[in-house]
Amino acid sequence: MSNIKPAWWKEMSVYQIWPRSFADGNNDGIGDLHGVLEKLDYIKALGVDAIWFSPLYPSPNCDYGYDCADYKNIHPEYGDLGLFKQVLDGAHERGMKVIMDLVINHTSDHHEWFVKSREEPESEYHDYYYWRKGKKPGGKKPPNNWLSVFEGKAWEYNKELDEYYLHVFAKGQPDLNMSNPKVREEVKSILRFWLELGVDGFREDVITYIAKREGLPNGFPLLPIGRGMEHWTSLPPVKDYLREFQDEVLTPYGGFTVGEAPGMTPKLAKEYITAQDGKQPLLDLMFHFQHMEADCFMTDFIGLPFSLKKLKKAFSSWQREMFGEGWNALYIENHDHPRIINRYGSPKYREASGKMLAAMYILQSGTPFIYQGQEIGMTNITLDRLDQFKDVATFNVYNLVKKFGMKEERFVKLANRKSREHARTPVQWKDAPNGGFCDAEPWFPVNQNYSEINVEAAEADPNSILHWYRALLQFRKENPLVIYGGYQEHYKSSRSLYAYSREHEGKRLLVVCTFGEKPVQFCAPKGFDLTQGKQVFGNYAPPETQTNSFVTKPWECRVYMWE
Ligand code: NOJ
Repeated sequence: MSNIKPAWWKEMSVYQIWPRSFADGNNDGIGDLHGVLEKLDYIKALGVDAIWFSPLYPSPNCDYGYDCADYKNIHPEYGDLGLFKQVLDGAHERGMKVIMDLVINHTSDHHEWFVKSREEPESEYHDYYYWRKGKKPGGKKPPNNWLSVFEGKAWEYNKELDEYYLHVFAKGQPDLNMSNPKVREEVKSILRFWLELGVDGFREDVITYIAKREGLPNGFPLLPIGRGMEHWTSLPPVKDYLREFQDEVLTPYGGFTVGEAPGMTPKLAKEYITAQDGKQPLLDLMFHFQHMEADCFMTDFIGLPFSLKKLKKAFSSWQREMFGEGWNALYIENHDHPRIINRYGSPKYREASGKMLAAMYILQSGTPFIYQGQEIGMTNITLDRLDQFKDVATFNVYNLVKKFGMKEERFVKLANRKSREHARTPVQWKDAPNGGFCDAEPWFPVNQNYSEINVEAAEADPNSILHWYRALLQFRKENPLVIYGGYQEHYKSSRSLYAYSREHEGKRLLVVCTFGEKPVQFCAPKGFDLTQGKQVFGNYAPPETQTNSFVTKPWECRVYMWE
């Protein structure tokens, strides 16, 4: 018996919407809430229980909403508060919760707090941000050696004030000074605003960055991007701030939270998501990045050959460490990474590998998140020119590698594999111009493979990746074993197989995933008899007679259950 305490958010699965590219309801080339309203039945039919919206707030779009200019409103490009309420009610009527993105590490430089902090330096708003004198006057030397994650130095100089402001991300994303109690009051007021409106919880953007080391000391000098991160990642005051938000607002409202946490380890995560001193944990879930680094080093752009062993190690350590103590947030795609089929699967075996990857993570212990388009197996786009890319992070890398002599053409090839913009191409709804996303010019190119890969085609094909996702989520709902069962990995040292089992109240499940085309001999692990089990999933037709070992087909996945 496991000692896991049941909770609705442990049983749910979540669909992530990146609004600009999901569905364009007013046909202006930009996704919006009219589009979401039309697609609520589609989302519900996938079998999810909640929607997480990437930022819907007014924003000058330097980071598409992650630079928020007004926390209590909706971007006019997406609709207004009235339309949002209709979407919220529509989701609730269908039994789905709604989770908002909460971006409080920084605001937009268009936010009125920031404008006042700059225009009225005597006002209380000046201390809402990190304004500091440089080491030399006249903008000749910034306060320290920190480098931003998105745009050169982490400090931007203002001549009128002869001061710099801190931006760990883009210049248009000044960092909030969370050590200022007034800023924390603002955060609590934002939380209350959305909870009062009826939302169910928050995905908290880079939440472990919200405290900066006192004195803002220099960072470890060698890092070319994000230098100084040891002084802004997971510092002790983060927990004090989260405690305040939890106790004063989230607990009373019953608000759910999932915090994004770059650099997170299972041991540290437990300090945030495990109940301590009988109190509500600081967060319910955390998004860590370890399993997203099986083909890269720290960022997607620093590519490494895919290592299945690295992937398995990351998944298994979180499965082991969280069991009975915390809870996993399971994901393989979001708006910050290229499409998973291009990374850990194979576009040549799109259907087989897309299905295998889905089963691989959804059947683990935790709350699964599915990113828009993932459910139909969308893949990376190929762009011809640099000016077709739009993202501040892509251009940051370009500006850096250019200094080392990389030519534009070569960079475009690199970005065609590594940019997070692959996740941001408009969702392909049908085999029609612009993939049925809109008639107008779409804000970002639609992947030309829309005639083959689109929702309408996936609906019509009972063997599609879409139907596979639906079946997996349904199976998870019907089997507490998948939600609350224990996890054990098998054949850890295999370089082409990922096999694990789950066990709960006398029932067992065995998940066998093949990474690659090459045939491999799979033998049932000790104690498992495939001839006695029921094959509940397979991305190829099941064998006529089950045997206790088999030779795998390309990217084959089989799931067996014993009751
Ligand atoms: C993490 C978000 O997921 C990403 O999209 C964004 O650019 C940064 N935080 C900055 O807000």
